[in-house]
Amino acid sequence: MIDPDRHVVLVGMMGAGKSTVGRALADRLGRDYADTDELIEIGARCSVREFFREHGETEFRNAEGVVLDAALRTFAPGVIGCGGGIVVSEGNRALLRNGRGVVVWLRARPDTLAERLRDVTDRPLLDGDPVGNLGRLAATREAWYAEVADAAVDVDDLDVDEVVEAILS
Ligand code: S3P
Repeated sequence: MIDPDRHVVLVGMMGAGKSTVGRALADRLGRDYADTDELIEIGARCSVREFFREHGETEFRNAEGVVLDAALRTFAPGVIGCGGGIVVSEGNRALLRNGRGVVVWLRARPDTLAERLRDVTDRPLLDGDPVGNLGRLAATREAWYAEVADAAVDVDDLDVDEVVEAILS
């Protein structure tokens, strides 16, 4: 049962399905969906890749904190999809734990992520060695996702509707 007074916040690695699941979940709940990558792109008027190139990763994590804080403060509880690296920043992890949202970790094996991201070119942190980078990032971040999550859903063998059902239950 979803708490009607709190946002649902989706975290997990890129390729775990946060945006797709987040939009489907928002539809089911009759809520708005917000995506931290999109909010940054709108605010900075550039793509995530351009933002990384112009300002670097640390500034990107700061920007994630700003848009996450703003989204969590909005009055009507919604569904918020977070960029996969939002948990890298300790300040962002504190925001995720502040109680305004129920944080759900969409957890996937690295081979699932690699398969889903096979044709994707807009993730700067995967440049050069996508599969190796995914594995390294996933290993580094696992403890951080666990630290912020109220619940985890293993998404490897589930379709979008099944993940939505798992979150709702
Ligand atoms: C990143 C994930 C991306 C995006 C950026 C960095 C990461 O978002 O924020 O490319 O560090 O894992 P998605 O998880 O929505 O792909």
